[in-house]
Amino acid sequence: MLICAYLLGSIPSGLWIGKWLYHKDIRKLGSGNIGTTNTFRVLGKKAGLIVLFLDMFKGTLAGMLPYFFGSFSHPFYSPLLIGVAAVIGHSFSIFDHFHGGKAVATSAGMVLAYSPLFFFICWLVFGSLVYFTRMVSVASMLGMVIIFGLTFFFHDGLLSLIAFILTCFIIYMHRDNFKRIKAGTESKVPFGFGYRK
Ligand code: G3P
Repeated sequence: MLICAYLLGSIPSGLWIGKWLYHKDIRKLGSGNIGTTNTFRVLGKKAGLIVLFLDMFKGTLAGMLPYFFGSFSHPFYSPLLIGVAAVIGHSFSIFDHFHGGKAVATSAGMVLAYSPLFFFICWLVFGSLVYFTRMVSVASMLGMVIIFGLTFFFHDGLLSLIAFILTCFIIYMHRDNFKRIKAGTESKVPFGFGYRK
């Protein structure tokens, strides 16, 4: 299951959709990231939505593998543990020289397999932060810190542990964004609080 999940997560949707459908290498455009945000930025709404769906779906499908294998009752077969293998695949893809995205969408997909309610809460937190900060990177990092805090309401040690690890990892993956935020050059979404056309 771990290998299956890693391979699923490795599928670089943004990179392949950019190459196959738009004949563009998104690694060389915008922020250079192969995730949803840069796909929206470089290839537009349609491609962005498809990549968002696919990157999340990888995490959900991986997290659901224990259900398919009928072994969900075993603690080591938690959707969270198997889902993390997909997140690792997403960020260190075997199909992209062990490079990849910043783990946000695939982590969200994994949460959907764990708890649709918590997935909804995560989206509410993330969506509000995107609206108020207009920077997806800030919303991703700050959102993870808040979401980690919220895990304690679920009284599930594994959930809190994995949320903590993912929070650290996602912040680390955004190190280039930090530099841009500091320099005032981080790109903002064309909507949200204070946005004027
Ligand atoms: O999920 C990635 C997002 O937080 C930042 O993406 O392309 O602005 O570096 P990007």
